[in-house]
Amino acid sequence: MAPPDWLSPRRPPLALLTLVSCFLCACGSATPFPKDLEPISVVGWEHSYLYPSFQGLLQDNDTVRLGLDFQRMLRINHMLYIAARDHVFAVNLTTASEQFVPQLKLTWRSRDVSKCTVRGKNSDECYNYVKVLVPRNDETLFACGTNAFNPTCRNYKMNTLEQVGEELVGQARCPFESGQSNVGLFAGGDFYSATMTDFLASDAVIYRSLGEGRPVLRTVKYDSKWLREPHFLHAIDYGNYVYFFLSEIAVEYTALGKVVFSRVARVCKNDNGGSPRVLERYWTSFLKARLNCSVPGDSFFYFDVLQSLTNVLQINQRPAVVGVFTTQANSIPGSAVCAFYMDDIEKVFNGKFKEQRTSDSSWTPVPDEQVPRPR
Ligand SMILES: *[C@@H]1O[C@H](CO)[C@@H](O)[C@H](O)[C@H]1NC(C)=O
Ligand SMILES: *[C@@H]1O[C@H](CO)[C@@H](O)[C@H](O)[C@H]1NC(C)=O
Ligand SMILES: *[C@@H]1O[C@H](CO)[C@@H](O)[C@H](O)[C@H]1NC(C)=O
Repeated sequence: MAPPDWLSPRRPPLALLTLVSCFLCACGSATPFPKDLEPISVVGWEHSYLYPSFQGLLQDNDTVRLGLDFQRMLRINHMLYIAARDHVFAVNLTTASEQFVPQLKLTWRSRDVSKCTVRGKNSDECYNYVKVLVPRNDETLFACGTNAFNPTCRNYKMNTLEQVGEELVGQARCPFESGQSNVGLFAGGDFYSATMTDFLASDAVIYRSLGEGRPVLRTVKYDSKWLREPHFLHAIDYGNYVYFFLSEIAVEYTALGKVVFSRVARVCKNDNGGSPRVLERYWTSFLKARLNCSVPGDSFFYFDVLQSLTNVLQINQRPAVVGVFTTQANSIPGSAVCAFYMDDIEKVFNGKFKEQRTSDSSWTPVPDEQVPRPR
């Protein structure tokens, strides 16, 4: 991608466009609200509690008090890796149906607990919550932990959970607190992360680092047109892009107060950032669009808050992702499952481009001939 020298700061490099309909949709304007589908099968508590379970190290006093507090799960072939507070466990799934016991255990505690308690935050955060656990290559896992408000990353051998190489700084790769959201993945040797980059959680970022030969890039700091109080849910390496799925406060509906919308954002893997004059060290390919999970009718009913998303799977022989959405937190509780074809998402990023002309005007489509190139 050529650096867009002419990209003016008044034209934020993002598109806000609507996407795709969903499983729920029926046709016609007078359709009643769809009835809940019948599940194929249901497993209740009285059956599920009979399955073997793992609750952490019961000889560990912290686990007894705080629980396992698992943060991430990662399955690679027949191994299930569980990232928790101060530990990573590896369970061999071949035998897990009889006995769910970790075959390997890694302990990684924070060193600077005394400094942490001085900072005046909740001392339950003075542990190392392992928030990143992703494969780096066929043999190595990349892990990052909050490390008592001092995020840190390490590499581990996949088959032994032995550390390899040096520790590195985790800022912008891993959040500072267990409750903050983050996603991360390796694509083409680069690590793509989305999280909060500071102690106060005021700076949210989509970040690329650790690659060889590619510059470190990020989203613009404190700019709500890029990200506004985002909650990151998933990242997918697909084609020439890395896609991020998140919910955030809508910038285009300020009249309604703080409304949460869900988005898909993407960056090009071959983005080299802007020039010294504009967007240097920032993404030049960042675009985002609204995820539209709604029931049609005379007025639409939206499930706007993404809670969870699959990886790419095939629906009708087309690559797609499936998400669980809910209504706004202060609304009538409701949830829906919506699926989006990846080619529809790509189409939207080539479709209408919206802008806000002045800081208090509404977001409107840009005439085709005025769409910045690259977007
Ligand atoms: C959401 O999708 C429906 C069905 O395709 C569409 O009619 C509606 O206008 C979309 N909503 C928004 C806000 O674009
Ligand atoms: C757990 O707590 C007990 C009682 O407070 C203490 O005797 C023991 O040493 C603790 N164990 C560890 C591993 O810290
Ligand atoms: C998992 O357990 C099976 C059966 O005991 C064993 O054959 C296999 O080698 C184990 N896998 C790993 C990765 O240790």
